[in-house]
Amino acid sequence: MAETTKLHDLEFMPFLSAIELSRVVDELSEKINIKYEGKTPLFVVVLNGAFMFASDLFKKVSVDCEISFLRVSSYRGTASTGEVKELMPIGTDVSGRDIILLEDIVDTGKTMGEVKQKMKEAGANSVNICTLLFKPDAFQGDYLVDFVGVEIPDRFVVGYGLDYDGLGRNLPSLYQIKPNT
Ligand code: IMP
Ligand code: MG
Repeated sequence: MAETTKLHDLEFMPFLSAIELSRVVDELSEKINIKYEGKTPLFVVVLNGAFMFASDLFKKVSVDCEISFLRVSSYRGTASTGEVKELMPIGTDVSGRDIILLEDIVDTGKTMGEVKQKMKEAGANSVNICTLLFKPDAFQGDYLVDFVGVEIPDRFVVGYGLDYDGLGRNLPSLYQIKPNT
């Protein structure tokens, strides 16, 4: 893993290696395989950020499942705008289904709160959230995040699907913004 990486105007330093991330993904998939044994959940991948996490996780999911995608956006630069825009609707009937929302990171919790609410209104039987990363100090939601990969400090991260204004998604490991930037 490279020492530091510069994206636009900001410098980032190594935070979680590809090997550490793969261990986290293994643990999450084991929990899902146990909890959903005998069920056929519908995964809803929250794009863009969750694409790399989702693709690694699915290789380890052994229960019968369906996979669908939803695209939302709320971030500009390194801060949440507080407004969640739906850019690509799911296009699959969720009524009566056991939904697992796959998210890269839960920060303020606004995005997952709104998506969860929408799924419930559309008649989902259950809606669980599985996130690779969780920032407990930033979370303002009034709901439970069911599966959490790693709790991290409230500092901006990039890589493994997460971006800073469009850059960094292709990095195979996770980087954190440098303290003095
Ligand atoms: P929330 O609605 O505040 O929970 O924000 C969630 C969304 O903001 C995530 O799905 C990410 O796309 C984005 N986000 C939050 N924190 C970060 C970060 O540290 N790096 C990159 N994107 C982030
Ligand atoms: Mg996301």
